[in-house]
Amino acid sequence: MRLDGKVAIVTGAAGGIGAATARTLAARGASVVVADFDESAGERTVAEIVAEGGTAVFHRVDVSDESQVDALVATTVERFGGLDIAHNNAGILHSAQSFVDLPMDQWDRSIAINARGVALCMRAELRYMLVAGGGAIVNTASGAGLGAAPDLSAYVTSKHAVVGLTRAAAVEYSRRSIRVNAVAPGTVETAMTAGMTEEQRDALNALMPMGRMARAQEVADVVAFLLSDEASYVNGAVVPIDGGASAHA
Ligand code: NAI
Repeated sequence: MRLDGKVAIVTGAAGGIGAATARTLAARGASVVVADFDESAGERTVAEIVAEGGTAVFHRVDVSDESQVDALVATTVERFGGLDIAHNNAGILHSAQSFVDLPMDQWDRSIAINARGVALCMRAELRYMLVAGGGAIVNTASGAGLGAAPDLSAYVTSKHAVVGLTRAAAVEYSRRSIRVNAVAPGTVETAMTAGMTEEQRDALNALMPMGRMARAQEVADVVAFLLSDEASYVNGAVVPIDGGASAHA
């Protein structure tokens, strides 16, 4: 599953799932643009990739800002001569609160980054790929994009939007040599889930079908496959990476 000669954008690549994907794509031969609004952590991801012999540069972007996202794609094409694959992964989780109590600024921010951000990234990437003649995109949805969890209404809504955007783009461009898929991770050990006490972590792990959360690398490996030519007939899929949680009755 080599990606030699491919040019990739990974958003939210300063840490967690995005950093794991960026390292994995680079290890398989892709040139990677590490895109994030956290510059110092993003530069650390780049340094790790370069130390492992890969090719990567950092680009600062707020994915909810249209002109910044357009500039991300333009700079990528300028720097590496094209854009073949993209992982639209940047996202945030709001504080757990019942729907009626969630402040509207948290609602707006969740939708702006998680849903509008993916839409803006896909638009800019697709505009380039349509002219270039093809490409592959993977968006990070969530188990919360397929079902609901209590007290996460804006997150759940934004991730359902990511599933809808993925399917809409997949059917719209399926005859243009462009594939668009999504991953729907369950709970993954990243900064997003780091704020738990040992007790909370043990309780959560006990609820998981495999008795543990996913590692970011276990998501990155599926993303790398979906972006590779080996997944040439996989389009519009939303792949759960949840250790079997979604299979439970
Ligand atoms: P993380 O917090 O480690 O990584 C998220 C990255 O996105 C950070 O580097 C952050 O700086 C960046 N980011 C946030 N807002 C941004 C913006 N406006 N513009 C550019 N970059 C921005 O968390 P994690 O877990 O790696 O999350 C990655 C994706 O996976 C998110 O979309 C999240 O919703 C999703 N996810 C995570 C799960 C988990 O249990 N950790 C489960 C299911 C989905």
